Amino acid sequence: MTIDTLAVHAGEAPDLNAGAVAAPISLSTTFERAEDGSLPHGHLYSRYSNPNRDALEACVRALEGGACGMAFASGMAAIAAVLESLAPGDHVVVASDAYYGTATILTGHFERWGLEHTFVDFTDSDAVAASMRPNTVLLWGESPTNPMLKVVDVERVAAIAHAGGALLGIDNTFATPVLQRPFALGADIVMHSATKYLGGHSDVMAGVLVFKEAAGMAERVRTVQMRFGGVASPFDCWLVMRGIKTLPLRVRAQSESALAIARRLEAHPRVERVHYPGLASHPGHDIAVRQMERFGGMLSVQVRGDAADAIAVAARLKLFIRATSLGGVHSLAEHRASVEPPGSSTPGNLLRLSIGLEHPDDLIADLEQALGGERPGGKEGG
Ligand SMILES: Cc1ncc(COP(=O)(O)O)c(C=O)c1O
Repeated sequence: MTIDTLAVHAGEAPDLNAGAVAAPISLSTTFERAEDGSLPHGHLYSRYSNPNRDALEACVRALEGGACGMAFASGMAAIAAVLESLAPGDHVVVASDAYYGTATILTGHFERWGLEHTFVDFTDSDAVAASMRPNTVLLWGESPTNPMLKVVDVERVAAIAHAGGALLGIDNTFATPVLQRPFALGADIVMHSATKYLGGHSDVMAGVLVFKEAAGMAERVRTVQMRFGGVASPFDCWLVMRGIKTLPLRVRAQSESALAIARRLEAHPRVERVHYPGLASHPGHDIAVRQMERFGGMLSVQVRGDAADAIAVAARLKLFIRATSLGGVHSLAEHRASVEPPGSSTPGNLLRLSIGLEHPDDLIADLEQALGGERPGGKEGG
């Protein structure tokens, strides 16, 4: 079945009692036992499972083509659950430009609990291979990356992980299952910040994990989910399910607009560099063509000048909203260096753009008027 059809139907069973087509929200935290003590509907207590979470987990599992799914209260709760399932003395290799929250919990929390880590550029497969240790159990990367839009050869990194007896987890938030299927490329775990494209409307926070195999690490992570309880609420699951129904349509439209915008910006005299995997000038373009169906709705732009010039361009935007996050229907612009921790390698003159569902001509007009203006206080960007 195509992903378009799965997005509408996967995980949904019409409510048999009322014939409801749109799924009800099941708020009950506890579920009745039969006289013999059994649980006829399979649910005991909502931290362990509930109908809306079951639906979302089944839906994303089907979209990614995995064996089991788990829904969490945020993307970070999902990543944390994977790391919490590991043991002191285990070693994790993490992409050096993975979402900064992933790096922050490793250095700020898991290091104190004895989990070892190495940050390495996942676009450099020799460096990835060299970072493997006998105790390496997990490699964790993204493609395309946030915010530099680097493209990782997932097949190659998966081969390195498996040769060393480790698993590969891919944060598929930027690509979504519409554009990229990490399991087909050899990954073992797929993760989403469902706060972004899956939810799609900037109104719900959630995270999802999908495992290729239901045994092994998936079982340990399920235990973490049930015991630690960082789960998505029934209403949040329902909202993400509603968002997923239009996911393929949204992501394809956002990708088309992002490509048109990237091409226009690349030719703009006040732009130093555009980072977008769909551009032939992008160093990972050939890999992106191989492993993605389209190139996604995210791009980053380095304006000519410094951080103040980039902030001034953002200040002049009228249609793009200056806000963090991504993947919703509204186009957003963010000066990333301002929000990342000190020491981040993100260039000061970089603006990250999340392309929404406005018409691309209107978005281009907004960017062109913002790039054309003067920097407040005198100096011009050019
Ligand atoms: C690529 C990526 N992974 C993970 C996360 C964390 O997700 P959440 O904010 O839902 O916890 C984000 C958030 O921006 C992200 O962009």
